[in-house]
Amino acid sequence: SKLAVLISGNGSNLQAIIDAIRARMLDAEIVVVVSNRKNAYGLERAAQAGIPTRYHPLKPYRDAGRSRQEYDADLARILQEYRPDWVVLAGWMHILSDAFLRHFPYRVINLHPALPGQFPGATAIADAFEAYQRGEIKETGVMVHLVPDEQVDRGPVVASEAVPIYPSDNLETLTNRIHQTEHRLLVGALRRLLEGD
Ligand code: GRF
Repeated sequence: SKLAVLISGNGSNLQAIIDAIRARMLDAEIVVVVSNRKNAYGLERAAQAGIPTRYHPLKPYRDAGRSRQEYDADLARILQEYRPDWVVLAGWMHILSDAFLRHFPYRVINLHPALPGQFPGATAIADAFEAYQRGEIKETGVMVHLVPDEQVDRGPVVASEAVPIYPSDNLETLTNRIHQTEHRLLVGALRRLLEGD
């Protein structure tokens, strides 16, 4: 299967996919990596692995008074050049509108550092840690889900896994534990999806 991976930053989850493909744990090819940020370290990871990269920033659209729908439609056009079977949001920090999603129905998967239904949005790990400190939760988690529509961090769950929080944790130790879980869960979820293809 052909994967397109969308990133905004470090790309450690992208790296997990690259490594799994190399180790033949995943029968797939990453056909393109797209970033909305020019200095995303994930772009270097992709280049080092010989994967084509594209940079698709929102600012020029904003500056020209062009809509988010136009940005998303152009993003879909970029990806379609590479004919991906699946689009993987691996730390992509923009919400995708229907102008993008209608081109890839039930073919977009997102990774989110919280359990299903909990802490949507960009600050999920910190939100969970604060809820833990208030005594509201004892654990958090990670999920991989399909992105059928514009709702943020929601959709049919492909895989999820609880991550414990310990009294000795700080935000950094919890974040590290969550990221390690993400790398494993994302690869496992992709395996299952691709086998079902
Ligand atoms: C991950 O925590 C992902 O769940 C979130 O953004 C982070 C991306 O990390 N949406 P990386 O760029 O893959 O290292």
